[in-house]
Amino acid sequence: MKLMVVGGGGREHAIIKKLRENPTVTEIYALPGNGGIARDATCVDIGAKDIDGIVKFAVEHAVDYAVVAPDDPLVLGAVDALTAQGIPCFGPNKAAAIIEGSKVFSKDLMKKYGIPTAEYEVFTDPESALAYLETAPVPTVIKADGLALGKGVVIAQTRDEAKAAVRSMMEDKVFGESGSRVVIEEFLTGPEVSVLSFTDGKTVVPMVSSMDHKRALDNDEGLNTGGMGTIAPNPYYTAEIADLCMETIFRPTVDAMNAEGRTFKGCLYFGLMLTPKGPKVIEYNCRFGDPETQVVLPLLESDLLTVMQATTNGTLTPDLVRFSKGHACCVVMASKGYPGKYETGFAIDLPDDVADGVYVAGAKLKDGVLVTGGGRVLGVTATGETLSAAIDAAYASVKKISFENAYCRRDIGARALKAGKE
Ligand code: AMP
Ligand code: GLY
Repeated sequence: MKLMVVGGGGREHAIIKKLRENPTVTEIYALPGNGGIARDATCVDIGAKDIDGIVKFAVEHAVDYAVVAPDDPLVLGAVDALTAQGIPCFGPNKAAAIIEGSKVFSKDLMKKYGIPTAEYEVFTDPESALAYLETAPVPTVIKADGLALGKGVVIAQTRDEAKAAVRSMMEDKVFGESGSRVVIEEFLTGPEVSVLSFTDGKTVVPMVSSMDHKRALDNDEGLNTGGMGTIAPNPYYTAEIADLCMETIFRPTVDAMNAEGRTFKGCLYFGLMLTPKGPKVIEYNCRFGDPETQVVLPLLESDLLTVMQATTNGTLTPDLVRFSKGHACCVVMASKGYPGKYETGFAIDLPDDVADGVYVAGAKLKDGVLVTGGGRVLGVTATGETLSAAIDAAYASVKKISFENAYCRRDIGARALKAGKE
């Protein structure tokens, strides 16, 4: 089997390493991949948003199965374009990817089908949004409708902050057309849980739950980032809550997408908040989360390719998806300064004895040497029988990896450990 994985971050590296475990896989192309992925796949210099280039490459190289991992190509219709050429794909088509591509769509879907989420209003012009904010309760949450590189959400503590967010999205267009509509929603509180699921549009099978650490600094301080680390499973997500989520959120979402004529196949990501009034949806993603994937896939005991193909073929069953009882922790090593300004181009010392659990996100090969090339450079994952064993093992590996200006949080998993003891 010749596979193609579209994307080039830590998530894609984790997917590729897992796919390689299948003995029928003879080749994996990564478009574009990165310097670290190059150890595990053939990297091809075609960008993840270059849909024509991706399809052309897949046809020319007789790719047997494609995995489209990032949000942009999914929302742009990469799966539709590949399928039209007879190449089976993992991921939703364009009609279904809108569940992430438009916050207005996803909020309206939840309202229409009674799926629990924050109360909200949609605005298409800045004047009415600003007028609404004169009396809106604070804190409040402002969300750009479209994709915004994960930066389109502002938690405003005051009305002035909220108005500034509306102006920058709707008037200054900092996210381009993504901000031409905004959602203003109720501020919710409670522990957050990420649940990725496989679905073929009929059956939905949740994966092991996880916890992201979005803030740049220890104790959840500092700016929001793409994610500084993850642990799995999430101790707040009990079996009872899992059952409730299946009944009130997961199943109803898959049914709602079918009822809308937008059958979702692939990985549907539920960003949940366990509020005092029960679990509510904070966001949907139409893809694997990053860095959630880096802790979820190492705990997957089943063959990933088999499960992915079952989502494409409509033959998914719960018994196909088995997870180990263990725990996993991923610590992201970033360039100092991220998510603000940072320097790159520093050589990475990545010893072979830790490379197995390392998923490279932002690094390039320069004259055969792996050098830093992004804000988040790599994720270091370890598994263990207990959460504390997984955390200790991840940090032990972090110690062995070095590059100039390396920065990581020191408390990944600390909150989860505390919660487990409560
Ligand atoms: P993202 O959409 O991944 O950029 O995430 C934005 C983050 O904002 C989430 O992980 C939550 O922590 C937070 N957030 C989003 N919506 C709400 C809400 N309605 N109430 C409270 N926090 C929220
Ligand atoms: N870690 C959150 C996301 O992938 O959007």
